[in-house]
Amino acid sequence: MPFSITFITNDGKVVSVPEKANLLRTSIREKGGIPFKCGAGICGTCKCKIEKGLENTDPIKDRERNHLTEADFAAGHRMACQTFVHGDIAVSWVPLALRPPLKPRPASVPPPSGESG
Ligand code: FES
Repeated sequence: MPFSITFITNDGKVVSVPEKANLLRTSIREKGGIPFKCGAGICGTCKCKIEKGLENTDPIKDRERNHLTEADFAAGHRMACQTFVHGDIAVSWVPLALRPPLKPRPASVPPPSGESG
């Protein structure tokens, strides 16, 4: 039975979905706007919050646990690329521009200078 996904952060855009579907794939196909990079549960970019209809999502995957805590899950957060939806939901997310910058990687130790053979 068809159901709807509401992309709250994209001006409340609503799309109709014919059958169980991956949330990120649907967002990409329908221009829902959920940010992403890897699409494979690695980068964490697709973190979102199921504001309504959390019961219409499938079980939490191990890959999601690499990026989200139990408190996050309790609040409705999921990784869109790892989440399948089978009924009405409404989803929001923090736009990339409003997210804190990623921590820089530790600089590699420079080679000693001023020493020669
Ligand atoms: S897009 Fe990278 S974890 Fe979902």
